[in-house]
Formats: sequence, C-alpha cells, structure tokens
Amino acid sequence: MDPDATTSEHPATTAIQSGRGAALPGRPLSVAPGLASSFRLGNGEVPGEARSYARGDATEGCEALESVIGQLEGGTAVAFASGMAAIAAAMDHVRPGGRLVVPDTCYQGTSALAEHVARTRGAQLTHLEPSDTAGWLAALRTDDVVLLESPTNPLLRVADLPAICAADPTRRAVLVVDSTLATPLNQQPLGLGADVVVHSATKAIGGHADLVLGVAVARQPELIGALRTHRTLHGAVPGAMETFLATRGVRTLPLRHERAQANASTLAARLEQHPVVTVVHYPGLASHPDHALADASLAGFGSVLSFELDGDAATADRFCATLRRIVHATSLGGVESTLERRAAVPGQEHLPPTLLRLAVGCEHVEDLWADLTSALAAATA
Ligand SMILES: Cc1ncc(COP(=O)(O)O)c(C=O)c1O
Repeated sequence: MDPDATTSEHPATTAIQSGRGAALPGRPLSVAPGLASSFRLGNGEVPGEARSYARGDATEGCEALESVIGQLEGGTAVAFASGMAAIAAAMDHVRPGGRLVVPDTCYQGTSALAEHVARTRGAQLTHLEPSDTAGWLAALRTDDVVLLESPTNPLLRVADLPAICAADPTRRAVLVVDSTLATPLNQQPLGLGADVVVHSATKAIGGHADLVLGVAVARQPELIGALRTHRTLHGAVPGAMETFLATRGVRTLPLRHERAQANASTLAARLEQHPVVTVVHYPGLASHPDHALADASLAGFGSVLSFELDGDAATADRFCATLRRIVHATSLGGVESTLERRAAVPGQEHLPPTLLRLAVGCEHVEDLWADLTSALAAATA
C-alpha cells in the first residue's frame, strides 16, 4: 500500500495535495511532464537515478498520478496507457483452460476482451447479471478472474460489492472491479475486499476529454508486481503528457464530480416525468432495480444516466442531431455533457434501440434541461 494511504484526510484534500513531488524550496508545485525515453545511467546515489528507460521505469509524473489515485483508492496504483490496457493486465490471471466471468451487460470493450481472452486461452467465459450475488460468490470459488463492473455502462446496474468482496478463505479468483462510473469518490472496492480496482482514467479522472489513460490499483505485493510486469512487457506504459494532464484533472475531480452528479440527479428526476421518455436508468431513482443497494453501498449515484424514448431508432437519432449544447459524442466523465445512442455502436445492437446514454457534465443544469426538452420536442413532433 502507498505509505500515505493510511492518512484519514478527506478525498477532496488528497486529490489536491498528494502527488506533488519533493516539497523543497525552488521546486515547482506540480511534477512537470517528464518527456523522456532514456535516462542517464549513474551509480544510484542521486534520487531518480535508478531510472534507465521509460517503458519499464515509471517516470516521476507517472508516479505522481499513481500516488494520488493510490491514496484515493487505498492501495498502490499502476497507471496504464488506457483503461483497456489496465483491464487486460488484470485478465493475465486467466489460466490456459481456466475460467473467467464478466457482467452480462458492461462496457463493450470489456466484453470483447473477455471473449478474446477466453478464445485464445481456451478458457470458459460466463456472463452473470450484476444482481446475481449468489452466482458471483460461486464464481469466486471456481474461476481464475471474476470481473465486476459497478455501476455498469450503460445500464447503470449496481452489484452488491460489500457482499461479493467480503473475505472468503475459499476464494480462488482474482476479484477485479471496474469502478470507472463510480470514480474513486463513490466507492473504494479494495477496502471491501476486492483484489484489483481498475479505472478508465480517460473518463472522470482526466475529466476533459483530452487524453486516454487507465489505472489499476491493488494491495497485495504479488498483484502489484504482476501489473507492473505486464505493463513493461506489453509496452502498456502511459505517455508523459497523459499522466501530467490526468494528475491536473484529478485535482478538480471532487469539485467536478459534485456538480456533475447533482446535475445528473436533477436531470434523471425530470426526464422520468417527461411524457416521451419511457424509462430512465439511474441508480438514484427509486424506480431503478438496484436503488436500495446503490443507496446503501455508494457515496453517490454518479453522473451517468441512460433513458429510452417513446419511438424508434430514427426518433432517437433525430433527438441526437437536434441537441445544441450537449455534445453528440461517445465517452463520459468530462466537464462537457455528452450523449450517444448506444445501440448504434457496433457490437451494442442488443441494447434497446432508443437507449440514450447521457454523460452529464458541469454546465448549468437549466441550460442542459432546456437543450434536452427542446430536442425531445423537435424529435417527437
Ligand atoms: C466502464 C469502462 N471501463 C473501461 C473502459 C475502457 O477505457 P479506455 O477507453 O480508457 O481504454 C471504458 C471506456 O468507455 C468504460 O466505460
């Protein structure tokens, strides 16, 4: 565990103050991006001198980001070139001929990777509903890797992480939780007993739709070592500018998160009352199937919601094309609100045709609401 991970300060303080480098006179307040592949070889007497090549030796900027995320999650973080690279590193624990399990609906890149891993390693892949707690607990005793995503993308299903992560001496699997939609602020699965937490730092951690990055966090030394070895051998090391921007992004994560989450909660409640909206998927709503669980286990309900329209795919496409302020684009977790019809994404055709995923940003909520209502009126006129 990161030596500072035991401090009891508020995450809003940790996000701002940790990962600053040496607090010495004349040093900058932030660690500058270390644009280097090679480092001068010395005799090990000067701090940082042990670095030789940036693919294997995390740069100071990378370590700064890892320090902040590690402290927020309560473990040791290893940064990767993307969220998928972090998930791929965790999937290394699937043995040839072994077993792995993922949620029945989750981020489509994760589903595709799980299928690829199963195919190439001759492993057996199972899909479980996030709410099938008994199924997840059974899989922990038989499988090599149990990968939960909670809340899920894009249906916002919530798994009973406190029950599933609880210590079980008969557990065999490496339990991985993709906590991207929760952010390190709404849940800390390592504290509940998960083995590895992964994030697409492309999303809320970076927060500005200007980088691709991932992070995996663990407590057990052998898991941390395996993540680092995978990163070096697969060349999944993040770029210096990306770790610099993500570290800058995480400074405002608590502020952005508070605003975006409040906006999402307001919009979810209003959309649910709108006459052409048939269903809203948001764990903060009493109508959501996992509302009670989310209320008990998450510090907040997040900034992503999905909703469906009375109409067909063409109605939903017209709606996307009519929005003026909310950006018709993929991804989530940015200061700018984005919206996408998920069934239009290749591999996602099984989703309801009008399902629209709204990644709520930090704009004024009334401007977002005005944009939604005028586009809904135009699309369904
Ligand atoms: C929940 C979740 N996990 C992982 C990923 C993959 O992250 P990246 O695009 O940074 O590789 C995404 C991307 O959308 C995601 O939504």
